Amino acid sequence: MEIPFVDLAAQYRSIRPEVEDAIARVFASCQFVGGSELEAFESELAAFCGPGLHAVGCANGTDALYLVLRALGVGSGDEVITVAHTFIATTEAISLTGARPVFVDVLEDTLLMNPDAAAAAVTPRTRALLPVHLYGQTCEMDKLRALASRHGLALIEDAAQAHGARFQGVRAGALGDAACFSFYPGKNLGAYGDGGAVVSRDARLVEKIRRLANHGRVEKYVHSAEGVNSRLDGLQAAILRVKLRHLDAWNSLRRERAASYGRALRGIRLPSVRAGAEPVWHLYVVRSKERDALQERLARAGIQTGVHYPVPLHLQPAYERLGIPKGALLVTERAAREILSLPMFAELTEEAIARIADLIC
Ligand SMILES: Cc1ncc(COP(=O)(O)O)c(C=O)c1O
Repeated sequence: MEIPFVDLAAQYRSIRPEVEDAIARVFASCQFVGGSELEAFESELAAFCGPGLHAVGCANGTDALYLVLRALGVGSGDEVITVAHTFIATTEAISLTGARPVFVDVLEDTLLMNPDAAAAAVTPRTRALLPVHLYGQTCEMDKLRALASRHGLALIEDAAQAHGARFQGVRAGALGDAACFSFYPGKNLGAYGDGGAVVSRDARLVEKIRRLANHGRVEKYVHSAEGVNSRLDGLQAAILRVKLRHLDAWNSLRRERAASYGRALRGIRLPSVRAGAEPVWHLYVVRSKERDALQERLARAGIQTGVHYPVPLHLQPAYERLGIPKGALLVTERAAREILSLPMFAELTEEAIARIADLIC
């Protein structure tokens, strides 16, 4: 029995007629860039995240982060506090603006930004906090909000892995000054190509991002600034509208799968959920001191797993220039040696979970 890490084909089979209709609509209208599908998706995504929000689509999640930082005026000489336990896109976006990423350690249980470590890292140059809702669980946004308010910092959510996740009843997207989503195909809400979006309560910020993402264009042949070309195309928007309608149901199924793992697994450290958080289980990440051997054993049995992420960002060659030594982020570094992401997707069967658990025990 081969068990894939994710099964995008199974999901496609379950929504194929709806996707085909959506694609046909775009071809009929020929609105391939911009247009009514994009506008509808933007308002549906904003409404999904919560009341009073606005959304703007862009080309991918990395651009979403870059565009927010740029629209907020973050740039050279500024510092943005984030974690090293994330995908490099988080910090690429910071560096692209000319600002410096400042890495802080994560909490031992959830592996999310440690608010005390973030507080200790604030300097007069700090402009923003950029916590990452990794694996589908929101960070402790109450503490981070208080920290941001105390120092007048922007609070930006990297919600690339957390579509639909809640903290104290509020969804990712509505927990900071702005939130950035990725619609990379394997995400909980995934396009059939690249895609991203920014969600914010601040309508002016969203409009500024919309302009920046479209060459700084205010009207045809008038550009208020140099921007970039980072637009969500009509086809992806139409497909994402279909998938957004299923997202809550898919997230519920992921929750059920996570509960089944929790009941079935023995002798291994399970993921932790903090009070107030309602994760959407983008990844189901266990921990073992014998991680590499376990991963190999599962691979031999036909079970695909992943490691998110094996090399913390501060130890990546790309960040040698920051001169952060090994041992600087102990919790992050230990986690990187022990974490293992098990197969997780809505269509994962109970039989598959039982088989994985048998092999792990
Ligand atoms: C935590 C995190 N941030 C940012 C990104 C960047 O998103 P994208 O691949 O759409 O640029 C991703 C996903 O790839 C991610 O997992």
